[in-house]
Amino acid sequence: MITVLEHPLIHNDLKILRDKSTQTPAFREAVNRIALHLAVAVTEDIPVSEVNVDTPLETTIAYEITEKIVLIPIIRAGMGLLAPFQQIIPNSSSGYIGLKRNELTFEAEEYFFSIPKIDDDTTIIILEIMLATGGSIVNTINRLLLEGASKIIIASVIAAPEGVEKIMTEFPEVNIYTAALDRELNNLKYIMPGLGDAGDRLNGTV
Ligand code: URA
Repeated sequence: MITVLEHPLIHNDLKILRDKSTQTPAFREAVNRIALHLAVAVTEDIPVSEVNVDTPLETTIAYEITEKIVLIPIIRAGMGLLAPFQQIIPNSSSGYIGLKRNELTFEAEEYFFSIPKIDDDTTIIILEIMLATGGSIVNTINRLLLEGASKIIIASVIAAPEGVEKIMTEFPEVNIYTAALDRELNNLKYIMPGLGDAGDRLNGTV
């Protein structure tokens, strides 16, 4: 399933991200704000348990998240989503996967992998700004399945139909959340109209 978030504030920030004249600080801030929306949306169905809590006045019923949530940003660009997700989901833990795009084959190659222990009850949220070909995310999902993952959600800022279709075909049980679903990939596998290279723009390496 894919969910494309719709909100005037998100549209406003997407305009900032797409604009080639936006400088790195404003770009980072817009990514951060969109990530806050995404973090709220992806956690909408996280189960809560009823607990008693003592207020200063009496004991009352409250709800808390008991689910273990692990955030996995795909280095580099996915790191831009991590801090806002940690802010919204304070009890989450984080792991990292480093994937580099081979510019000749466009295949994703892993160079770093470190994640906390996961089990059947762990919800994993993969963080990636651009869901382009889907290659990095497919690699990440396959790696996480080998580690025992069963509940996986993807959070992206801009997705391309090609990548979405690939993930939905290979992993129909994985839900995708994105702030925009763009038109297509170009011949260099950039998302069109997109925002260019998210990692470069986020890190000021344009
Ligand atoms: N990665 C990016 O940063 N931008 C794209 O358009 C596609 C992949």
